This record gives sequence, C-alpha cells and structure tokens, in this order.
Amino acid sequence: MRIDIISVVPKLMESFFAHSILKRGQEAGHVEVVLHDLRDYSLSKQRQVDDYAFGGGAGMVMSVEPIARCIRHLQSERHYDEIIYMTPDGETFNQQTANQLSLQGNLLFLCGHYKGVDQRVRDMFITKEISIGDYVLSGGELAAAVCADAIIRLIPGVLNDETSALTDSFQDNLLAPPVYTRPAEFEGIGVPSVLLSGHEAKINEWRFEQSIEHTKARRPDLYQKSGL
Ligand code: ADE
Repeated sequence: MRIDIISVVPKLMESFFAHSILKRGQEAGHVEVVLHDLRDYSLSKQRQVDDYAFGGGAGMVMSVEPIARCIRHLQSERHYDEIIYMTPDGETFNQQTANQLSLQGNLLFLCGHYKGVDQRVRDMFITKEISIGDYVLSGGELAAAVCADAIIRLIPGVLNDETSALTDSFQDNLLAPPVYTRPAEFEGIGVPSVLLSGHEAKINEWRFEQSIEHTKARRPDLYQKSGL
C-alpha cells in the first residue's frame, strides 16, 4: 500500500511515521508513506496557500489552485483508490472504515487547516471525507495520522503476530478483554487463574466472556450491534 499525505506542516507528521510499528511496516515494504508540502505547489512568492473567504467572515480558506496542482501531479503518477479529506464534518472514522481502507492500494489524504478548503476542492477531487470525532482540531494532520495508523496496522505482515489485529477491540463490535503479564502477583494482587492454566479452550472462553461483560458495561451501544 502507498499512502500520500498533503499538508501545510509535513514536518509535524514526519516523526510520527518514523517510529515503532509504522516505521517497521515501511522498512519491511508493506507500506510507503509519502508526505507532501502543499506550499511546494503554490505559485506565489510567499508560498501562500490560503486566502480570505468570499462573503467575508473570520478565518482563511485554503485555495483551490495549489491543492488542484498537487493532487493532479500525484494523480499523473498513479491512480488513487480514495482521495480523503480530513474534516470535522466528514463521516466518523471507525474500525470498519479502517478495515475497508486497509484493503486499498493507494490512498491520498488531504489535511485541512484554517476554515477549511475551498468547496470546489471537495466537489472536484475528494472521494471520501473523514472526521475522527466531534471536536475541532487546529489541522487535519493529527486526524490523518490517526487514520493512517489504524489502517497500516491492519495490513498483513505489519504486526508481528498476524492474528493480533483480528483480536483488537471493535473487530467484532466487542471491546478487548483484560490482559496481564508477569509478575503473576503484584503487591498481593494475582491474575485470573485460568490464564495460568495453559488450557487454551478455557482461556479463549474466559476472554470471550470478559469481552462481553466489558462491552455491556462500557459500550452498551456496541454490544447491541454485536448481535450477541
Ligand atoms: N480537522 C479538524 N478537526 C478534525 C476532526 N475532528 N477530524 C478530522 N479532521 C479534522
């Protein structure tokens, strides 16, 4: 998979993709993440990428020209399965969307700033609009990083243990069960004895029951969706 990200602050995102699982995923060739500085596509001397809103009002609007130039340049090199605009008025991101996007070949993310992008960008180029929640960030970068992380860890081979993404919270509309590691006793508090039993079927059964209880208690809305 290849993920391209267009941003006015690409430096902000560099370190995020240069560590841990995301770094290993790239080094192993499972994914390539390429950051693009939108200002490189501005024709103005000041590398301007925004302008005042027609009709007035506070806040700048990201101009259509540099974005169109950047997207068309990238499109001339490859086909994008989705061109995604990160915006608080998009559809709310969830595990199902992450699963669907992880099956694609090339994704292009556009990070908004200021009051957002000129509507013509959305009408002409964008195929999907995603929000990561009902709050407003100062830019789409963190949101794009959140989506890219959730997507990349689902690509086969990126996680060491191939099955571990399948047992994540939300994969079946259930939250993950509690987990424990050594020591088996800490300040007098032990771990559930079934986990020390070595009995795989019983352990799986316990984990499933815990998932159900945990989901019922914390996310009754998800539990309903699970159909259990
Ligand atoms: N840009 C600003 N706020 C955002 C949000 N909540 N989700 C996605 N992009 C955003």
